[in-house]
Amino acid sequence: MLRTLYAKLAAVLSLLLITIGAIYMVVSLSVAQHYIDEVNQLVSRDLAKNLIMDRNLVAEGKIDEAALKETFHQYMVINPSIEIYLLDLEGNILSYSADPGKVKRKHVSLGPIGDFLEKDIYPLLGDDPRSHDKQKAFSVTPVPNEINPEGYLYVVLQGEEYDAANSAVRDSYFLWLSSWAVAGSLLFGLLAGLLLFYFLTRRLRRLTQLMESFKDSDFSDHHSYGIVCEEKVATGKSSDDEIDRLGSTFDAMAGRIIAQLKAIADQDNSRRELIAQVSHDLRTPLASLRGYLETLKIKSEDLSVKQQQEYIDISLRQSEHLTDLVGELFELATLDATEQLAHIEPFAVTELVHDVCQKFSLGLDKKTISLEVKLEDAIPFVMGDIALIERVLENLLENAIRHTSVDGKISVVVKKDNAEVSVSVKDNGVGIKTEEIPRIFERFYQAENAHQEGQHAGLGLAIVKRVLELHQSTISVDSQAGKGAEFCFHLKAA
Ligand SMILES: Nc1ncnc2c1ncn2[C@@H]1O[C@H](COP(=O)(O)OP(=O)(O)OP(=O)(O)O)[C@@H](O)[C@H]1O
Ligand SMILES: [Mg+2]
Repeated sequence: MLRTLYAKLAAVLSLLLITIGAIYMVVSLSVAQHYIDEVNQLVSRDLAKNLIMDRNLVAEGKIDEAALKETFHQYMVINPSIEIYLLDLEGNILSYSADPGKVKRKHVSLGPIGDFLEKDIYPLLGDDPRSHDKQKAFSVTPVPNEINPEGYLYVVLQGEEYDAANSAVRDSYFLWLSSWAVAGSLLFGLLAGLLLFYFLTRRLRRLTQLMESFKDSDFSDHHSYGIVCEEKVATGKSSDDEIDRLGSTFDAMAGRIIAQLKAIADQDNSRRELIAQVSHDLRTPLASLRGYLETLKIKSEDLSVKQQQEYIDISLRQSEHLTDLVGELFELATLDATEQLAHIEPFAVTELVHDVCQKFSLGLDKKTISLEVKLEDAIPFVMGDIALIERVLENLLENAIRHTSVDGKISVVVKKDNAEVSVSVKDNGVGIKTEEIPRIFERFYQAENAHQEGQHAGLGLAIVKRVLELHQSTISVDSQAGKGAEFCFHLKAA
């Protein structure tokens, strides 16, 4: 019952129209009675005075009792719609034209009589002697005359006979007619209202259907409410009202939900790939380590001391490599975990570059690679996490050294660049193919040039990129195959 908005609106409208109809009927009936009273009193205002004159009810300054009785009798027969009463000056009823059994009052209030004689207010209702509480329109005149009144001739208009006739006619005709007229116009209003509501709620129904079908779908696609709007635009009926705005909000929300679910699914896929890659990278050195250790255990008697030493060295290298790999993975996971990690503070980047380069130059002698450090004068302090920036420099230098052959040249340049300080690591090694450049920052990606001397996982540049993200900075590469590579990043000056 009343589950749809349309049904609720229809019920409210029907109730409203029925109430209006009932109020209209009550008001119109009471106004009609008021109107009849006023017209009657206006038309018959001088009826009492005229009766005195026409019927010669006053003779020689006195009420002619016989003529009055005659008039009472005649009016009871000829015009039963009026009732005539003779009152004394206090309003007591002395005689009347009506059936004696029906008169209920002995006294009529003088207030309305005074008002009638002095003021022009219509309709004025006076006491109806045939009822204890009713009031009716009347006409009155002092008798025998206005100068020396001894009483009043009080004429009640629309007497009891009129009431009976009026109510019979009203019940059978007026009430019937007005009820049908009101019911007809209300029915028309109801039908027009229902039709209007139907068209108003049509778009809402369409929107509800769209939302429900989206809710029941797999959230991969949705039927846009915008199409409905486009139809409206095509027919020139676009209103862009609340329902249209609700529709476009739904479109936008559904679009975002679909995009976000897709992003989550993509992330999930790349996480799976990452886990597969990590397990693969761990499995290879572990298998080799285990192989050598098993050989040592089983065949130790057949192996020479030199061979045994060699196997132990290989096993140690593999375990070192595993330690490095697990260390890098842990580092990346920690960097991913939270942005609060970077402990940003001012530090002297020139000193850091100097220290890191010195650490690396120790191992360079045998490869005859020259490592040059160029520091501009007056380099300001920079804002950053000194330990993380040290890792960036280590990774870049380690890559540069590994990809540079004998007689290679590596230079680290620190320059001031407006409100920032730029650090670049440049080598003249094998370089990177242009099409591979966008991928080298991906986790586990290794370019074609990667030498397998020592084992590397392809995580170094991913760590560099993440660290610089935490510093709201980026890293850029300039490289070509065979022509060396230059990596550069900026840090904000303190
Ligand atoms: N200076 C460079 N010259 C040429 N190629 C480079 C240079 N630096 C990086 N690359 C290429 O980019 C790839 C990704 O570098 P990244 O530092 O991420 O991994 P990796 O050095 O192979 O392994 P890891 O750093 O984890 O030990 C490298 O495998 C290499 O192919
Ligand atoms: Mg590296």
